[in-house]
Amino acid sequence: MNANTRRLGALLVLGVSALVVGCERPPTETVQRGYRGTGMVGVYNPRTVADLQAANKVPDPTPAAESGGPSAGTQFKNVKVLNDLSVAEFTRVMVAITSWVSPKEGCAYCHKGADLADDSMYTKVVARKMLQMTRHINADWKNHVADTGVTCYTCHRGNPVPANVWYDDPGARMAKGFAGGLGDQNMPGTKVGLTAMPNDPFGRYFVKDGPIRVVATEPLPGAPGKSIQQTEWTYSLMMHMSESLGVNCTYCHNSRSFAEWGTSSPPRTTAWHGIRMVRDLNVGFLEPLSGVFPKEELGPKGDVPKVSCATCHQGVYKPLYGASMAKDYPELGGAHASGK
Ligand code: HEC
Ligand code: HEC
Ligand code: HEC
Ligand code: HEC
Repeated sequence: MNANTRRLGALLVLGVSALVVGCERPPTETVQRGYRGTGMVGVYNPRTVADLQAANKVPDPTPAAESGGPSAGTQFKNVKVLNDLSVAEFTRVMVAITSWVSPKEGCAYCHKGADLADDSMYTKVVARKMLQMTRHINADWKNHVADTGVTCYTCHRGNPVPANVWYDDPGARMAKGFAGGLGDQNMPGTKVGLTAMPNDPFGRYFVKDGPIRVVATEPLPGAPGKSIQQTEWTYSLMMHMSESLGVNCTYCHNSRSFAEWGTSSPPRTTAWHGIRMVRDLNVGFLEPLSGVFPKEELGPKGDVPKVSCATCHQGVYKPLYGASMAKDYPELGGAHASGK
C-alpha cells in the first residue's frame, strides 16, 4: 500500500462514517415484535418518534349535533351526498371540514359568494366526491381501517392539498439510444425511499393491478411475472410501504420467507387489503375527477393527483397513531355510506 492509497482509504472511511452518521445519529432503540431469534425487530430513533408524535396530535372534536328534525336534503337546494343528515349535523360537518381542509381560506375555499348552493368552484365539486370517498372508506374498507376509520383530517391535516399525493412520473430526461433507457433505475427516487429501485411503482400497483408475488412456487424458472425486473418492481413497492409506515420489512414479514403468510405478522394482511383499497380510491374517486381539476393541479403527464399509503399514514404505522376521529363524526361514518 503506498501513501496515496492509504490516504484514499482514510478518506473513504471518513466519508462512509459521515454518511452512516448522517442517516441515523444514535441513540436508536429496538423493539422485539416476533418470536425470539426471528430478527423481527423494529428500530426507532427517540428523536424522530418525538417529532412524529408532535405532528400527529388530533384536534378536539366539536360537540355532537342533534340528529332529529328535517333533513339537509329537504332544507337546502343542492345537497347530493349529505342529504340524509339533519340540518344541525350538516352544519357541523361544514364547520369541521373547513377546519380540516381550509382553515385559512374558510368557507370561501369551496363557496363562491353568498349562494351556498352554487357549484361553480371546482374545490366544492372535489369536496363532494371526497365526502363520498370518506364514507366509502369507513363503510366498505373496515378490513383495512377497522373502527378507527378516517376523516378528511387523516389526509389533509389542515391543508387544501394533502402533503403526500403522487402523479405519473414522466421519467428522467436523458440521451436516447445506446446511452439512454435506464428503465427508471439507478436514479434514487423519493417514492421508493431513495433507493435505486424502479422509481415509479405507483401506477403499476395503485392504479393497475400489477403482479406482486415473485417468489417461485415451482422449481422451474421462466414462470411469467417472476423475472428479476418484476422482483425489482415488487421491492420498490415494498420500500414505499415501509417508508410510509415508518417500519422495516420485518413489521410484516419473517425474512426467512417473504412469501409465506403463516409466519408473517397480522399487519401484513391489513397491508394486503390496503393495496386494494388505495387502488379502489384512485380508480373510483380520484380518476373520475379528471375533468374537474384545473390544469395547474394535474401532473406532468396530465393525470390527476392520487393517493398512496403515505397520504394517510404519513410515516406512522397507523395514521395519527391509531386515534379514531371517525367515532366523533358519525356523519362521515359507515351508516351513511352512499357508494360512489
Ligand atoms: C372543503 C369544501 C367546503 C367548505 C370549506 C365548506 N363547504 Fe359548504 N358545501 C360543500 C359541499 C361539497 C356541499 C354540498 C354537499 C352535498 O352535496 O352533500 C356544501 C354545501 C353547503 C350548504 C348547502 C347549500 C345548498 O343550499 O345546497 C351550506 C348551507 C353550506 N355548504 C355551508 C357552508 C359553510 C357555512 C361553510 C363554512 C363554515 C362551508 N359550507 C364550508 C363544501 C364545502
Ligand atoms: C384518503 C385521503 C383523503 C381523504 C380522506 C380526503 N381527501 Fe381530499 N384530497 C385527497 C387528494 C389525494 C386530493 C388531491 C390533491 C390535489 O388537489 O392536488 C384531495 C383534494 C381535495 C380538495 C381539492 C383541493 C385543491 O385545492 O385542489 C378538497 C377541497 C378536498 N380534498 C376536500 C376533502 C374533504 C372535505 C374531505 C373529507 C370529507 C377529504 N378531502 C378527504 C385525499 C383525501
Ligand atoms: C406493511 C406490511 C409490509 C411491509 C412493511 C413489507 N411488506 Fe412485503 N409484502 C406485504 C404484502 C401484503 C405482500 C403481498 C402483496 C400481494 O400479494 O398483493 C408482500 C409481498 C412481498 C414479496 C413477494 C412475496 C411473494 O409471494 O412472492 C416480497 C419479496 C416482499 N414483500 C419483500 C419485502 C421487503 C424486502 C420489504 C422491506 C423493504 C417488505 N416486503 C416490506 C407486506 C409488507
Ligand atoms: C384511507 C387512509 C389509509 C390509506 C390510504 C392506507 N391506510 Fe393503512 N391504515 C389506515 C387506518 C385508519 C389504519 C388503522 C386501523 C386500525 O386501527 O386497526 C391503518 C392500518 C394499517 C396497518 C395495520 C398496522 C398495525 O400495526 O396493525 C397496516 C400494516 C397498514 N395500514 C398498511 C397500509 C399500506 C401498506 C397502505 C398502502 C398500500 C395503506 N395502509 C394505506 C388508513 C389508511
